[in-house]
Amino acid sequence: APVKVTKICCIGAGYVGGPTCAVIALKCPHITVTIVDLNQARVDAWNSPDFALPIYEPGLVDVVKQARGRNLFFSTDVDKGIQEADLIFVSVNTPTKKTGVGAGFAADLNYVELATRRIAAVATSSKIVVEKSTVPCRTAESMRTILEANSKPGTRFDILSNPEFLAEGTAITDLFSPDRVLIGSLQTPEGKSACQSLGDVYANWVPKDRILTVGLWSSELSKLAANAMLAQRISSINALSAICEATGANIDEVAHAIGFDSRIGPKFLRASVGFGGSCFQKDILNLVYLSESLHLPQVAAYWRQVVEMNEYQKSRFSKTVVDTLFNTITGKHIAVLGFAFKADTGDTRESASISLIRDFLSERAYVTIYDPQVEEAQIWLDLSEACPNTPLENIKKQVTIAHSALEACKQKEAVVIATEWKEFREINWQTVYDDMSKPAFVFDGRLLVDADKLRKIGFKVTTIGRGE
Ligand code: NAD
Ligand code: UGA
Repeated sequence: APVKVTKICCIGAGYVGGPTCAVIALKCPHITVTIVDLNQARVDAWNSPDFALPIYEPGLVDVVKQARGRNLFFSTDVDKGIQEADLIFVSVNTPTKKTGVGAGFAADLNYVELATRRIAAVATSSKIVVEKSTVPCRTAESMRTILEANSKPGTRFDILSNPEFLAEGTAITDLFSPDRVLIGSLQTPEGKSACQSLGDVYANWVPKDRILTVGLWSSELSKLAANAMLAQRISSINALSAICEATGANIDEVAHAIGFDSRIGPKFLRASVGFGGSCFQKDILNLVYLSESLHLPQVAAYWRQVVEMNEYQKSRFSKTVVDTLFNTITGKHIAVLGFAFKADTGDTRESASISLIRDFLSERAYVTIYDPQVEEAQIWLDLSEACPNTPLENIKKQVTIAHSALEACKQKEAVVIATEWKEFREINWQTVYDDMSKPAFVFDGRLLVDADKLRKIGFKVTTIGRGE
């Protein structure tokens, strides 16, 4: 019979491990969930008495408030967490490799391997080990080899793949009612039984027909495929936005018209300054690397183009700003609204805003940044990384951080909207206009403002995907 899971350990208390396992704890009061991480500061933040959690995610504090101390625990004692659990999620980071074979493309599996080796080293009873991190196809095979080569007599390990599909900013609603939960296992009796054990955990709140069970390799590949297809939609609509700008067509109208076709569907067709976030680019490059290692160069080139189109979109937008401001922004003052990679998150990984600001700084403009969630220290860190040859004190001569959108726009020559924060929809543009240098320019990289209304006030407005 399948093992009835009563103790779960999650290795990795990040954007995925934290919210995912907090929701499992909330929905399964009979299961003890311990989330472990090596990063003491992160664990302390998860445990902070005033719920100053390490990540901002709408609804997350409520979930943690209900479950923490009841059946949800955060700890740096990785070994104890492993020993006590009957099911272990591996939810560590899998960034793009920076050096060595596959640098710039392949996933760095060092963290997954270290976590796996730790499980093998300290486990004294049988475990179901679940790959939660996004990994290349067939990683479960390597995990199994490591575990089996190091296991103690009498302990067996079953490996499952259970990729996560939540999006940041909507993580809690995504976890409460997922489109689907995907579980991959070996198609052996033991594999299927482990699959059933994990499926039973999700069945506490997810309808059975949304829990999909497939083979291990299909599960691993489906995660990369889903992200690649989603990102491909954005690059497709962004490629069309360039045609719109050149022809006078309107990308909103085009997206609306094609989205009405039920085979295409209306979601995820919003033209933008480019997609960001920790995963799209990383996972596509991972797929490109996989294709190349399988000797499928045409397949690799096809997916690589999705990332190249995104790079083009970002640089095309910077160039539009420079061109419109009479071909030079040297010494000009620009407000950038939004630093996070999307609304409702404080996450800045691969944010398009960073590329724009880097471009503006290299043109020697002055930039004032406002974001409702991103912390100042994070902004300085990201800009230092984006401009490796400029010392931070020099960056600080060109960049100011403001505490409201109004303050950021004061006396500037141009306002650039980089993130679709709801509060930017509610800006009083008349007040902004009155305090700006003239002519006053707005560059809308997120299809957020009512361009006609702003033009009536007196602004010169440039919107992504709209010709004059
Ligand atoms: P993250 O960097 O926020 O969190 C990973 C955590 O793992 C870090 O806190 C790190 O300290 C910890 N860690 C690393 N090695 C460890 C070890 N050996 N023992 C204990 N802790 C260790 O990363 P994330 O955004 O949560 O992503 C995790 C995985 O989930 C990645 O593979 C990512 O591709 C995937 N994913 C992310 C998202 C997302 O929205 N961020 C969505 C779906 C899937
Ligand atoms: C994405 C996927 O949506 C999740 O399903 C997946 O689990 C996750 O990646 C992951 O594997 O990490 P996320 O990156 O958090 O989630 O956020 P998205 O909502 O997908 O947005 C990604 C980027 O695309 C953002 O910069 C967003 O602004 C941009 N975007 C999104 C557009 O430019 N246009 C759109 O129509 C949609």
